[in-house]
Amino acid sequence: MQSSPDEARLLQMLIKLTGARRTLEVGVFTGYSLLATALALPDDGKVIAVDVSREYYDIGRPFIEKAGMVHKIDFREGPALEHLDALLADEANHGAFDFAFVDADKPNYVRYHEQLLRLVRVGGIIVYDNTLWCGTVALPPDAPLSELDRLTSAVMRDLNAMLAADERVDVCQLTIADGVTICRRLV
Ligand SMILES: C[S@@+](CC[C@H](N)C(=O)[O-])C[C@H]1O[C@@H](n2cnc3c(N)ncnc32)[C@H](O)[C@@H]1O
Repeated sequence: MQSSPDEARLLQMLIKLTGARRTLEVGVFTGYSLLATALALPDDGKVIAVDVSREYYDIGRPFIEKAGMVHKIDFREGPALEHLDALLADEANHGAFDFAFVDADKPNYVRYHEQLLRLVRVGGIIVYDNTLWCGTVALPPDAPLSELDRLTSAVMRDLNAMLAADERVDVCQLTIADGVTICRRLV
């Protein structure tokens, strides 16, 4: 489930280019993209990272410790929608984040988008993973796909159409990894 190395390098470059200090991650798994994020942040930077499974995170944690990055990571266990809502409940968090990476729970990407547009500052970046879903978004409707692929592909097609029409963000979709969409908050 982990991101590819080229995607991790892209995340790091975006974090460095934007001078991000406070970031969010939705979907940690064993922490590959999380470690990449932490390594790119300044020493006083912080990433709030949410996953429904602490078990996965604990598998990768020794590597995060070895890299000396534990102090930059605030891991929160549970459904991301709830954790982001909890952050939104405190007005001090509105526009307080510079960068967010979303890589979990594909059917709720549209809902994460609304939450993150309030949490990430104007000029900040939101990155969505898997937006090409193995290229299936470009297949005809009658293409033979598993039920999971058919549903997720439809979710990603809807998301891509929504983002392309969303005037609150600048959008750039890259055909690396499984499709990576970068949004820059405009208003
Ligand atoms: C694709 S993996 C994340 C991979 C990670 N970003 C990386 O690059 O190594 C997706 C993760 O999302 C988590 N997840 C699934 N549904 C979730 C939800 N509703 N809220 C938070 N995390 C969720 C899963 O437990 C899984 O670890």
